[in-house]
Amino acid sequence: MALLKLNIHAVRNILKESIIPAATINFFYGENGSGKSTLIEAIYILGRAKSFRSTSIKSVIHVSEKSLIVSAQVIQSNRVTQLGVQLDNKNISCHINHQPTQKRSDLAYALPLQIIHPKSYELLDAGPQLRREYLDWGVFHNDQNFLLTWGNFKRVLSQRNALLKSKRVDHIDVWNKELVYYGTIVNNYREEYLQKLKPVFLNILDHFIQLEGIELKLVPGWDNAKDFHSLLIDSLEHDVRYGFTHHGPHRGDFQLLVHNRLAKEFVSRGQLKLLVISLKLAQMQLLTNVQNTIGCFLLDDFAAELDGINRAKLLDYLSKMKCQVFITATEQSDFGDLTTLDNYKMFHVEHGNIKQV
Ligand SMILES: Nc1ncnc2c1ncn2[C@@H]1O[C@H](COP(=O)(O)OP(=O)(O)O)[C@@H](O)[C@H]1O
Ligand SMILES: [Mg+2]
Repeated sequence: MALLKLNIHAVRNILKESIIPAATINFFYGENGSGKSTLIEAIYILGRAKSFRSTSIKSVIHVSEKSLIVSAQVIQSNRVTQLGVQLDNKNISCHINHQPTQKRSDLAYALPLQIIHPKSYELLDAGPQLRREYLDWGVFHNDQNFLLTWGNFKRVLSQRNALLKSKRVDHIDVWNKELVYYGTIVNNYREEYLQKLKPVFLNILDHFIQLEGIELKLVPGWDNAKDFHSLLIDSLEHDVRYGFTHHGPHRGDFQLLVHNRLAKEFVSRGQLKLLVISLKLAQMQLLTNVQNTIGCFLLDDFAAELDGINRAKLLDYLSKMKCQVFITATEQSDFGDLTTLDNYKMFHVEHGNIKQV
């Protein structure tokens, strides 16, 4: 997959802009406040129909406009697809080949996106939500049946939670059984994915640092030494008191262990960032290996968190990986030595205007 042409309308300070990116690496530089993160945000919106940095879409829409539009021609296996997303305060409207679609997942399949921005480095020390999202992005792209099971699981979970809140739990075991059924499948999908991801991840990590004794371990969201169904029965009183289900894959997580200790308690800050980068690259690499799908890798504020040596290593890896890359930095020199790179494009961003240089 690669964006052939990208059109942005009313995303923050980018009022109207079109670019024709390279299928390989695209560099964007410009002063603070020029619109670099906004460009990354626009591409992200096209793939996910939401922003990566604002929960309220209103703040993303240009102050003098009512809605924003991002559209692109995307090529995948020699087929060109037209994608479009329009967002206003209330509505999301997505189009694929000019046909409306209700499902955000259709966009996500058409434009697999991976992003690293300064907050992404919190992946291994923040709460489980970020890691769950990371994991499920991979599972979602690894097996398209996952989405249906996950949807069923969430439906059952919300029905069970509604019963807990209303304290009408006489027949709750019907929901317990359904929860166990779908929850176990969700967990199996995650486990299978993590096993596939691990060798790819270790291989990539080797590019950056030598670290021994690394383990990726799934945390199911319930004590898996115990029977899931019995746990739901035993925790009923507790669940009723708090009005929600305490055990299940909705509370799942994964751990990155180094010599049996959590990475965040064992390695340096710098090493932790390289672990995060390797995890993100590994997901994209696996997507390419397994499905022959080429994704889009977004890297905002390239120089903010990495030293020169690791920036060069990252760029080297990205240039060899089959994916389209969008990278931003304030100075052109932050990208380092580009003499060995082929076919890349360089853009300058200024006051929301993007010009190829
Ligand atoms: N809704 C909006 N409408 C217009 N301009 C906005 C809006 N939201 C933010 N901006 C402006 O957009 C500019 C670009 O921001 P950003 O993309 O984060 O810059 P960069 O990443 O280049 O430092 C900022 O100057 C900001 O003030
Ligand atoms: Mg920025």
